[in-house]
Amino acid sequence: MPTTSKRITGIMPSGKDGWEVHFAALARKQAGEDILMLSVGDHDFDTPAETVAACVAAVQSGHHHYVQLPGLPRLREVLARLSADCTGADTTPEEVIVTQGGQGALFAACQAVLDPGSHAIIMSPYYATYPGTVRAAGAAFTEIDTRPEDGFEPRPEAIEAAMRPETKMILVNSPNNPTGAVYSRRTVEAIAEICRRHDLWLVSDEVYWTLRAEREHVSARSLPGMKERTLVVNSLSKSHGMTGWRVGWLTAPADVIRHLTSLNIVSSYGMVDFVSRAAIAAVENGYGVAEIAERYAARRKVFLEAMHGTNNVGVRGSEGGMYVMLDISQVNPDAEAFAFGLLEAEKVAVMPGGSFGASAEGHLRVSMCQEEPVLREAAARIRRYIAAQAAQRSAAE
Ligand SMILES: Cc1ncc(COP(=O)(O)O)c(C=O)c1O
Repeated sequence: MPTTSKRITGIMPSGKDGWEVHFAALARKQAGEDILMLSVGDHDFDTPAETVAACVAAVQSGHHHYVQLPGLPRLREVLARLSADCTGADTTPEEVIVTQGGQGALFAACQAVLDPGSHAIIMSPYYATYPGTVRAAGAAFTEIDTRPEDGFEPRPEAIEAAMRPETKMILVNSPNNPTGAVYSRRTVEAIAEICRRHDLWLVSDEVYWTLRAEREHVSARSLPGMKERTLVVNSLSKSHGMTGWRVGWLTAPADVIRHLTSLNIVSSYGMVDFVSRAAIAAVENGYGVAEIAERYAARRKVFLEAMHGTNNVGVRGSEGGMYVMLDISQVNPDAEAFAFGLLEAEKVAVMPGGSFGASAEGHLRVSMCQEEPVLREAAARIRRYIAAQAAQRSAAE
């Protein structure tokens, strides 16, 4: 076989991918064991029935064709309005391109602003696809560690220290996966100031913007001098309960969107016609949005209350998104060993923090994608496991 390109072989360096605990748990669950799966970030409920009905109606009425490459005009219009709500900045349809999920928007953003040899700055812990998406554009990156004691918000001086002559882009994500941190206005303003001063692009991943309990969502796109340098990644996956439909969009200056339309010509050739029409109905009517946000806020509260007061376990971040981060470093600094032990002893699957970057070592990411009684039961099992670990330790001392 001839050799494959460095471009594709370089996306995921070989070795562990961080999903070992999840796949071990999944295999056992599929073999019939009663495992509580709190390891993935996909809803445990279906897409709202009204969105499904809109899709069925679109299929039945002949919407089976190619659509405009940047998206159906009506879809771009409604997404532009949604972007204005999300970012707090006026948005025209020409500033929007529809993509295959939020991941498609992230890929498009990196392709739009990075060249081979460029440098990007990303915050750690990060959503697992970030490093590969930056590498797919041929660029290198530096990880900025965010710390539990700062609520997992980045320190501006750490970003500043990572700057290189070839730095083109900073990538941020709030509300955050995996930490659940919702960045304060002060943090967002400080990051924006760095971008303006160094003439950088800011890629702002806001896919969890509707899931944030009582915290304010601040998008850098609304800040002075930022609209022309901010690319906002968004998606209907989480907000509208549509993970499998693959509808996302990027909001960016109209010139960037024009070039990205050329990328669409050579990659996806646009979106699915009937899915686009269901997406229009979902956005126009806000199907599911309030209920889903309320559901996750309630779940987060229930789980945190059930964990409250657990010896040697800290909670930081965990203000929005679909996850809670538990600091278990006092119990066992090796979170992967803890997660495997928890799976073995208590049949609960969670993700070890190290899967999301070195700065999440000593933590567990617990997904809130289960009903409240399951979350209560999982918390009880985690507490029992921690108590058993402590008893074992004191017996050994
Ligand atoms: C932070 C973050 N960004 C982007 C995405 C990708 O979203 P989508 O599923 O719409 O591709 C996800 C998905 O989990 C995510 O957590």
